[in-house]
Amino acid sequence: MSAPFSNTCTNADLARLNAFLKESISKAGIVLPEGKHTQLLNLACGRADESAVLADVFGKDGINLTGLDIRDREIGEARERWKKFLPKHAEAEFLVQDCSKLGDLSALPDNFNVAFMRHQNFWNGDTTWSKIYDEALHRLDEEGLLVITSYFDREHQLALDAIQGLGAELVLTERNSQSRALHDVPAGVQKSVDRHVAIFRKR
Ligand SMILES: C[S@@+](CC[C@H](N)C(=O)[O-])C[C@H]1O[C@@H](n2cnc3c(N)ncnc32)[C@H](O)[C@@H]1O
Repeated sequence: MSAPFSNTCTNADLARLNAFLKESISKAGIVLPEGKHTQLLNLACGRADESAVLADVFGKDGINLTGLDIRDREIGEARERWKKFLPKHAEAEFLVQDCSKLGDLSALPDNFNVAFMRHQNFWNGDTTWSKIYDEALHRLDEEGLLVITSYFDREHQLALDAIQGLGAELVLTERNSQSRALHDVPAGVQKSVDRHVAIFRKR
């Protein structure tokens, strides 16, 4: 069953994200392990609209999603929605947390298989976001992947530079030609839903 999403993220956007992630993973030559329960950290997840997509793409054999965001209202919405609509093979918890301070969450494991960040927000405080990426990389196991999506071309490039600067290996970056254009930006600025994806390995 699919959850009712607001106009800011439609079911068609999520279907495109699902296909885009699968294509990108395949293009990167990444074979996701089979028969393994995936531990996925969803950073700055907001309402975590993409939870069912993540369960499908990364967790066919079971998945635990840990979604974190600094805003309690969004985390409340995520909890309400996903206690009803999550697929059977998935479990999720959502916590209010500043992701630049993951060290404060002493119970948070450091062996996640995937750290995911949809519509990363590098422009909104480059120091904080570099810290968030750094914290994310430290929470991954040795084979772990960091996967981000971005709304904007320039912001995506800034995030790529920052994450590589932290020592991660960029495996793939892709422009999503199918992404839906958004118009809540000044004239001349191009923004679209999941416009870019990038996949990194922790080195
Ligand atoms: C552009 S929104 C993306 C939200 C969601 N991932 C999506 O695609 O709809 C950026 C999110 O970052 C969150 N955020 C900003 N700073 C944060 C921080 N230090 N720790 C955790 N979340 C943060 C905001 O609350 C917001 O939900």
